[in-house]
Amino acid sequence: MTRKLVGLAGSYNRPSKTFALVQHIAAIAVDRYGFEGEVYDLTDVGPSLGHAQRQADLDANAAKVLAAVVEADVLIIGSPTYKGSYPGLFKHFIDLIDPEQLRAKPILITATGGGDRHALMVEHQLRPLFGFFMAHTLPTAVYASDRDFADYRVVSEPLQQRIGFAVEELAAFFPDRALAAAE
Ligand SMILES: Cc1cc2nc3c(=O)[nH]c(=O)nc-3n(C[C@H](O)[C@H](O)[C@H](O)COP(=O)(O)O)c2cc1C
Repeated sequence: MTRKLVGLAGSYNRPSKTFALVQHIAAIAVDRYGFEGEVYDLTDVGPSLGHAQRQADLDANAAKVLAAVVEADVLIIGSPTYKGSYPGLFKHFIDLIDPEQLRAKPILITATGGGDRHALMVEHQLRPLFGFFMAHTLPTAVYASDRDFADYRVVSEPLQQRIGFAVEELAAFFPDRALAAAE
């Protein structure tokens, strides 16, 4: 059975460093574990999100992204840092998810920011958010700043190393796939 990886970048920008980071990590995990992978951003979710108070209020585009997120076997979540935290609309998307829908799901959490000042945003903001859902956030969270990118591509060696650690931590959830890939 093919397992599904879904990436979600909480940014509207295109191009987006957050999307680039999530996509970069997704490609490595797909290669490593043989997942089926897809990555979305908040532009894919579209304008119905702002007015929605429950999942039923979302239009077809937004509902498709939300369904992909909650049905995924593994998530890679990325958020830009806004004022030391995640953007309000990203939180609003997550607010529409029922707590049961993310319970025990493995999630690799990532964020981007302009500099390093808010690097602990992944630990102080994103990890507790998904703790509420009783999801399994991986021990290694990934934060990247402007200088880790060139032309919206991940270029920094330390960042690539950290991404490698995080992707390896998925092996605890998919041991059959980890072994198959190693053979
Ligand atoms: C409204 C706003 C607030 C921001 N606040 C912060 C911040 O507090 N700390 C930080 O490091 N970067 C901050 N930034 C910079 C973004 O986090 C950074 O450029 C990010 O990589 C953008 O991601 P994107 O290209 O995926 O949209 C802010 C940017 C905007 C637009």
